Amino acid sequence: MTVITNIEDLRVLAERRVPRMFYDYADSGAWTESTYRANSEDFGRIKFRQRVAVNMENRTLATTMVGQPVSMPVALAPTGLTGMQHADGEILAAKAAEKFGVPFTLSTMSICSIEDIAANTSKPFWFQVYFLKDRKFMGNLIERAKAARCSALVLTLDLQILGQRHKDIRNGLSAPPKLTLPNIMNMATKPGWCWGMLNTKRRHFGNIVGHAESVTDMSSLSSWTAEQFDPALSWDHIKWVRDRWDGPLILKGILDVEDAKLAAQCGADAIIVSNHGGRQLDGAQSSIAALRPIVEAVGDKIEVHMDGGIRSGQDVLKAIALGARGVYIGRAFLYGLGAMGEAGVTKTLEIIRREMDITLALCGLTNVKNVDTGILLPGTY
Ligand code: GLV
Repeated sequence: MTVITNIEDLRVLAERRVPRMFYDYADSGAWTESTYRANSEDFGRIKFRQRVAVNMENRTLATTMVGQPVSMPVALAPTGLTGMQHADGEILAAKAAEKFGVPFTLSTMSICSIEDIAANTSKPFWFQVYFLKDRKFMGNLIERAKAARCSALVLTLDLQILGQRHKDIRNGLSAPPKLTLPNIMNMATKPGWCWGMLNTKRRHFGNIVGHAESVTDMSSLSSWTAEQFDPALSWDHIKWVRDRWDGPLILKGILDVEDAKLAAQCGADAIIVSNHGGRQLDGAQSSIAALRPIVEAVGDKIEVHMDGGIRSGQDVLKAIALGARGVYIGRAFLYGLGAMGEAGVTKTLEIIRREMDITLALCGLTNVKNVDTGILLPGTY
């Protein structure tokens, strides 16, 4: 039995258990992957200040994100094809998040549908949408999220055109996978994954198949985005969404101070500083480098969240110290899911919580709400 002590252990296990096509989809970035790498490397440059002889009893990581209580400031990010990392993956991840007391965000590009998640959880989850040409379908998605009692809507702004990830092209990414000889040979080495998939009906894009008209080739992400995502998206369109959604609205994919200022005027409740996990504009700066200037520009007007490169509780605390109210983990939970299903997502959250708790104490604090740049070594951030 493998001893799992950190997120990298889960990544190694996931790589073994998930078919190459889906592992690669989760694990890759656009083009040279320089932004994907920078997201984690830039966390590594930031150093903590170690403090001693400060009473470290009674520590708490509990806080709020968009006014909702969270047991720690970490949400599960909306990730596409999560139900291909593990059968029924979105349901399993949502259950783990619910039990842990952190938000689960369902992607429009999920395998399990909004209704599937609602039927299998008891607390509200969050839902993510893209701005689509087919406004009727988009409006319906928002209505379905309301009917499912979703408690926040995340609007992704940085994927109106799909970044190129070389491995997806080479692997012929599709859901369900096409039964080519190389795919069959690769899947034959992943019996646990295959068994799960044979025992579930959820193998297509559950939010879309049967709901959207005029989608000709749903199995391919690239053709769907090219056909359906509206490249005309501008700031005026955010009002269209705001008018249809009363609850918290979170704008995802802000990396520039000027865009953050515009986003803060749109009536949204939060922004997510994000470069889409390095999957879109390769060569853009890391999310953690972009965070502080954005917090300084708009942090008094709108809640600022971030994602990108988080692989530990230490990374979470660094982002909180630099002004994020909360963060999202994508790959970190997908590795757990691919490795061990629901138990693996729980493991991811436990690892991150433990790392946050110990780091908080060693930095001389007991409450995550008191974290600020004071825990960081000047000159390193
Ligand atoms: C979808 O959002 C993706 O990054 O593939």
